[in-house]
Amino acid sequence: MQVVILDDPESVAEFAARRIAHVIAVAASRGRAGAIGVATGSSPLGTYRHLADLAAAGQLDLAHVSAFALDEYVGLPYDHPESYHAVIARTVTEPLGLDPALVHVPDGAATDPQAACARYEELIRGAGGIDIQLLGIGANGHIGFNEPTSSLTSRTRIKTLAQRTREDNARFFDSPDQVPIHCITQGLGTIADAGQALLVATGGSKAAAVAAMVEGPVTSMCPASVLQMHPHATVVVDDEAASRLTMRDYYQDVFRRLPGTDR
Ligand code: GLP
Repeated sequence: MQVVILDDPESVAEFAARRIAHVIAVAASRGRAGAIGVATGSSPLGTYRHLADLAAAGQLDLAHVSAFALDEYVGLPYDHPESYHAVIARTVTEPLGLDPALVHVPDGAATDPQAACARYEELIRGAGGIDIQLLGIGANGHIGFNEPTSSLTSRTRIKTLAQRTREDNARFFDSPDQVPIHCITQGLGTIADAGQALLVATGGSKAAAVAAMVEGPVTSMCPASVLQMHPHATVVVDDEAASRLTMRDYYQDVFRRLPGTDR
C-alpha cells in the first residue's frame, strides 16, 4: 500500500486526478479506452474538478472511457437528486464530458434488485474490468457501502446501511428518516479486482478510519483494510486525515524517494 500525505485537500485532489489521467493514458497506449471506478461523497469532488480541467485543457481524452459507480440506494427513483444515478450524472458524467452511455450505476430502482447486482458484475467484466477505482472512506471504515462485517471477498449485492452511515448521509436529505435503508454496492471482492485502487480522504473526521485501514489488522470490521491485500493500492490523505498514522515519517520518506512519474 502506498501512503501519500499531502498538505491540503487541493493537493490530494490534484494528485488523484493526475494518477487517474496517467492510468487512462497507459490504457490508451495499449489500445484500450479504459474504465474508471467512481465514488460518490464529498471526498472525490475535488478530483473530479481537476479531471475536468485536464480534459478541458486537452491533456486527457475521456471520449471513450467508461465509468462504473460503486453503489446506489435501493428504492430511490433515478431522478431523485440524491440517487447516485443523479449524483454521478451531476458530479462526474457532465463535468468530465463522459459519454452517458458508458457511465454505469447499479440499478437500485430495479424490480428485481438481486438480478441487477448480477447484471452489474457482468457489465464490469464485459468492459474488461476497472483500470482504477477511486474511493472515499466512511467514518466507520466502509468503502462503497460495504459496512463493517462485510465479507472481504463479497461481490455486488444488496446491503443494509449502518445507522452511522445513515446519520452521516442525512445531510443530503430533508430529514434523517428519508435516507434509504438498503443499497446495492460493489463488493469488497469486486473492488479488489480493479487494476489499481486509489483512496482519497481529507479532514480530521477520517483520521481514525484511515489509521485503522492502513495500520490496523485486515478485518471485516474495517472494510477498507482489505486494500492492504491489493497489489496496487494508493491512499492519498491530507495532514489532518493522516494525523493518527504512526508511520508518517516513513511514508513521507518513501514518497520523497519515488521517481517523478509516481509522484
Ligand atoms: C458514502 C459513499 C462512499 C463514500 C463515503 C464517504 O456513503 N457510499 O462511497 O466514500 O460515504 O463520504 P464522504 O466522502 O462524503 O465523507
